Amino acid sequence: MVKICGIGAGYVGGPTMAVIALKCPSIEVAVVDISHSRISAWNSNKLPIYEPGLEEVVNQCRGKNLLFSTDVEKHVYEADIIFVSVNTPTKVRGLGAGKAADLTYWESAARMIADVSKSNKIVIEKSTVPVRTAEAIEKILTHNTNSKDIKYQILSNPEFLSEGTAIQDLLNPDRVLIGGNQDPEGIEAIRKLKAIYAHWVPEDRIIATNLWSAELSKLADNAFLAQRISSINAMSALCEATGAEVSQVSLALGKNTKIGPKFLNASVGFGGSCFQKDILNLVYICESNGLTEVANYWKEVIKVNDYQKSRFVHRVVTSMFNTVSGKKIAILGFAFKKDTSDTRKTPAIDVCKGLLGDNAFLSIYDPRVTETQIQKDLSMDGVEWDHPIHLQPKSSSVVKQVNVVGDAYEATRDAHGLCILTEWDEFKTVDYERVYDNMEKPAFVFDGRNMLNVDKLREIGFIVYSIGRPLDQWLKNMKIVN
Ligand code: UDX
Ligand code: UDX
Ligand code: ADP
Repeated sequence: MVKICGIGAGYVGGPTMAVIALKCPSIEVAVVDISHSRISAWNSNKLPIYEPGLEEVVNQCRGKNLLFSTDVEKHVYEADIIFVSVNTPTKVRGLGAGKAADLTYWESAARMIADVSKSNKIVIEKSTVPVRTAEAIEKILTHNTNSKDIKYQILSNPEFLSEGTAIQDLLNPDRVLIGGNQDPEGIEAIRKLKAIYAHWVPEDRIIATNLWSAELSKLADNAFLAQRISSINAMSALCEATGAEVSQVSLALGKNTKIGPKFLNASVGFGGSCFQKDILNLVYICESNGLTEVANYWKEVIKVNDYQKSRFVHRVVTSMFNTVSGKKIAILGFAFKKDTSDTRKTPAIDVCKGLLGDNAFLSIYDPRVTETQIQKDLSMDGVEWDHPIHLQPKSSSVVKQVNVVGDAYEATRDAHGLCILTEWDEFKTVDYERVYDNMEKPAFVFDGRNMLNVDKLREIGFIVYSIGRPLDQWLKNMKIVN
């Protein structure tokens, strides 16, 4: 029986390993993590991450060919193939701070693998890493190994799943990318990994490349997707200034088969653990290679994203008579997108901090994010558009200005305005007449996800701002725009 060990039981490692176990009943999959609380959650009825369909997959395989453990060394020792899905955050201090990837977790995983291994291993990079990381990992493994007879093959097999649709993405991937050395041992390692995916992925979707192409493709993939969002968000600002409608522009663009329809939704800004981190990483690699123009090109994608968030805050404040001080504002949605409890780099953090900076009182509701997480997110780092990252002391007054509540009606009661920051489906079915009746007047809606029916809201009496659409007539007549 082939044995697989997955190091890192997070958003990537957990679902990926669970789907491999589901599709390969003849393979024993052990998922290990240094975090005891994460592993005990994976072994409980309340999984540590929310992901549609994940619970069903875990319930089918756990106790059969899927196990979760903190005994990292034992399972690494026993495995033939090791997937490494540890976190690679942006470095916060030292060389490359604010841009380069922090490979501390990766390096310590590699040193541990070298320490405990007594047989040949295929080591797979799952988490996104800078180009040529495989080379560094290979050095760590071969220079720390117990015996010259142990051979390591490093493969790059980046994960392309999106949170919220992870299980579907894993079951039916557009493509599986496997990068490896182009010598006979490397090609054999690629073949072994291909054989695992071939249990459920059609062969023509499994692409083999050299190591560096696979590593770079992952960074490029996220940079291109983020660039599309920043491009449409930049257009949304122009739409608001000219009377064009961004949704109509998106539709027209998407019908061009050269462009395609996906990732063209204007929004309050992109978030998530990958886009900003990977672009900063790309920028750092470009700068390190003397490619200043290329670095500057990609930096603009982040700058436009920061601009979109600050523009949203500016719009809220200017619309509400240039001050939100002492006003209650309801925030509907805090996660970085719907169907996830993840708040990493969510635009909601920067928008809320911007409003708190103007002394607003926030009443926040998100169907999946806990109060502890929201308070933690809002009392840490400085706002994102203040690059480079700097730390602010925790402020107890910020905590007092923030109230986390259990539903949309409670959040909006007596509020002057409401902001939609995540496109949760349930916000479409809220009774906005009831919401309107219980809000202060004039009642403002700021739809950061363009998900609500603007005309209906205006009929009810709301003053509405949505991204990239003509502004409410009332605001225009009052000449308080800009
Ligand atoms: C373009 C648009 O495609 C068309 O929709 C619009 O109506 C007019 O402008 P055109 O300029 O005729 O058409 O040619 P196009 O095929 O778009 O190529 C433009 C330039 O981009 C060429 O120099 C082409 O060589 C280059 N190109 C195109 C690339 O360098 N790489 C590509 O992948 C595609
Ligand atoms: C992304 C990539 O899609 C995935 O391929 C990669 O493996 C990891 O990073 P993820 O961050 O989970 O996945 O979510 P994604 O759906 O890409 O959304 C990222 C952010 O962009 C979210 O904040 C989302 O709301 C925003 N977004 C997305 C838009 O603002 N407009 C869009 O049209 C699409
Ligand atoms: P991602 O979104 O990339 O999956 P997460 O932060 O959700 O990132 O998950 C990464 C996981 O890797 C964390 O649960 C962390 O505890 C784990 N981890 C980090 N370093 C190691 C290590 N050396 N050995 C085992 N697990 C590790």
